[in-house]
Amino acid sequence: MDQIKRRTIKDLLKAHKAEDIGTIVNVKGWVRTKRGNKNVAFVALNDGSIVHSIQIVLDLANFDEEVIKLITTGACINVNGTLVESLGQGQSVEIQATAIEIYGSADAETYPLQKKGHTLEFLREIAHLRPRTNTFGAVLRIRHAMAFAIHKYFNDNGFYYLHTPIITGSDAEGAGAMFRVTTLDAQNPPLNEEKHVDYKQDFFGKETNLTVSGQLEAELGAMALSNVYTFGPTFRAENSNTPRHLAEFWMIEPEVAFCEIQDDMDLAEDFLKYLIRYALTNCIDDLEFLNKMYDEELITRLNFIVDNDFVRLDYTEGIEILLASGQKFEFPVSWGVDLQSEHERYLVEKHFKKPVILTNYPKDIKAFYMKMNEDGKTVRAMDVLFPKIGEIIGGSQREENLEKLLKRITEMGIPEKDVWWYLDTRRFGTAPHSGFGLGFERLILFVTGMSNIRDVIPFPRTPMNAEF
Ligand code: 4AD
Ligand code: MG
Repeated sequence: MDQIKRRTIKDLLKAHKAEDIGTIVNVKGWVRTKRGNKNVAFVALNDGSIVHSIQIVLDLANFDEEVIKLITTGACINVNGTLVESLGQGQSVEIQATAIEIYGSADAETYPLQKKGHTLEFLREIAHLRPRTNTFGAVLRIRHAMAFAIHKYFNDNGFYYLHTPIITGSDAEGAGAMFRVTTLDAQNPPLNEEKHVDYKQDFFGKETNLTVSGQLEAELGAMALSNVYTFGPTFRAENSNTPRHLAEFWMIEPEVAFCEIQDDMDLAEDFLKYLIRYALTNCIDDLEFLNKMYDEELITRLNFIVDNDFVRLDYTEGIEILLASGQKFEFPVSWGVDLQSEHERYLVEKHFKKPVILTNYPKDIKAFYMKMNEDGKTVRAMDVLFPKIGEIIGGSQREENLEKLLKRITEMGIPEKDVWWYLDTRRFGTAPHSGFGLGFERLILFVTGMSNIRDVIPFPRTPMNAEF
């Protein structure tokens, strides 16, 4: 078989030139389907570069019967052929094969993706193969585009990407239960005089965990570079088996010096709109596929977010609306409670029918570092609430005053010795600053219209699930 430079299927379907027609091209990919009759076979070939497959037409008289037999769903093949304009609907070009090599066959008896229309639940059990479905191809390409757009947005707006540690010695954030990192012998750990595990003998000479957030370190960066962001994996060991929680998820955390809560909200809204606009402009084939297959409101909803202002509302007013709603909630509402996703979604989907940024939460349900309001009861927190998702962003203005911050950590029982380095930023050249965290998979859930967070990350980590 002649060696010809490979073209991607995306390139051939979307970017072929008039002079390509009639020439011999090469494509490689995985067979999605094969149909036909005793004279001719039509193979739908996909290489993941685009949601669409290219049609390969095989004149059976020209090929070995043994080769034809191996061209089954899931097989990987290498094809040379003439590029021709397609008469079939919805296809711009197709390939009339002149030579075929089988890279890898896929036994029709045992290949798990033999049929179309598997449930998403079934596909989760074969997470190692599900990228080969149109659905996961679309989700993974959108995920890539969003990661790229995030870096682009920050780069274009003068932010520096700060790599914060994955293994941390601090658990001050209090964002959730942590996964311990240790090299001690689990069967027989060294004990100290009080018969507790002696972490002084552990790898780092102290207790360490996987990070729940890069924020505290991002603040250190912002107090030098002004505008920074983190984008990395975060870990929470809560046993929350919901369609919106993962034990390992990715978070984007901008942290900005000389930024008050209003500017923080402006940044969050502009950032989210930019990302959604980016998806609409750059991922429309995949969005149209997902719109057709899973969620016929998807593209309308994305456009709606881009075109409308988010509502900005005090927590206290939010509670009043929920109390006056006459709605029966599973978790009762009163001033001081942490909002559940049912409350957030009521405000967004039923009451305002728009994204909502809720601010000025009670201090007792928020982290120690949030800036206290004059009332002494609420803090300058802001959560961005989205349709179908609930909380997509959580953020705040930070307490920059050393005395007030010390008072808060004492009230909350955080030992000063654990956060001395954090407090140093308030000791030396403190400045007003704010930031937020965007859950990357919550964003992907929203942009793809998928309904379970396990279906927007290649290999989900949830309680009792770390197979792949
Ligand atoms: O609201 P959270 O806990 O905020 C923080 O961690 C702050 N340090 C952020 C900051 O101000 N820099 O988490 C931020 C976002 C949430 O709004 C949600 O989108 C997502 O992270 N998130 C999760 N996503 C998936 N699975 C989980 N278990 C998540 N927990 C939070
Ligand atoms: Mg939160």
